[in-house]
Amino acid sequence: MLTDAERAVDAAVAVIRARALQHRPRVGLVLGSGLGRIAERIGNAVTIPYDTIPGFPRPTVAGHAGHLVVGELGGQTVACMQGRVHAYEGKGFGALRLAIRSLHRLGCRTLVLTCAAGSLDVDVGPGRLMLIRDHINLLGVNPLTGPNDDAFGPRFPGLTDAWAPSLRAVMQDAAAEMGLPLAEGVYAALSGPCFETPAEVRMLRILGADAVGMSTVPECIIARHCGMAVAGCAVITNLGVGLSDEQVSHTHTLAQASVAASDLERLLIGFLKRLG
Ligand code: HPA
Repeated sequence: MLTDAERAVDAAVAVIRARALQHRPRVGLVLGSGLGRIAERIGNAVTIPYDTIPGFPRPTVAGHAGHLVVGELGGQTVACMQGRVHAYEGKGFGALRLAIRSLHRLGCRTLVLTCAAGSLDVDVGPGRLMLIRDHINLLGVNPLTGPNDDAFGPRFPGLTDAWAPSLRAVMQDAAAEMGLPLAEGVYAALSGPCFETPAEVRMLRILGADAVGMSTVPECIIARHCGMAVAGCAVITNLGVGLSDEQVSHTHTLAQASVAASDLERLLIGFLKRLG
């Protein structure tokens, strides 16, 4: 017998399949703050507003469109979440679990996550891209909190190689081919919505983080739980608070993200082409 959560995923998947009949997506893509424009490169695109898919999240933040775009990118069929929800929106993680599990049920076995982030390394400044090698979850919550649904994955999933080494290698090869410097490091997720204090930024550096943001880790955890391979790339929009005189703001994040979005777009297309 199906569990309630499985039935909810099936209902969402039925709507997506009915709208995007001609497509069989194999790669999921989540576009972060200011990066939504990348979805415009998707060919034969079917755009499905989240609010027409039962149970899908409703983003409340500027820069997050709230569309699922299914189509072709870099020779792959992708299902792209144009816009995400964050811990600080306070709606819990139920809708995000449903969305990521729906991508899995649609046939996506690889998930590529993108986000804007502040850099904790002064040598990797605004405009640079950072491949996520590992994460530190400082959200204060885990998206798998609550009863486990064994139909999706185990109660106690491991997070060794949460960010697939094989996908990182493909991403680095794609970057090298296009002569794009691609940093690699540890992403720390804090709940936000406040930006960090300078003391928190010093703490994060001591903890071994290379970049800080307010997203991405929940999607990774949910995807690993159901067995997807995950890759992630952060667009550095600023140096961490206190590391420069620059003032951080969401407007600044969106503006800087859109500057680096074209590099990220080229990298993603190169990556997808190499996935084979
Ligand atoms: N901190 C947290 N989240 C962010 C930042 C930052 O400095 N820049 C972009 N997203």
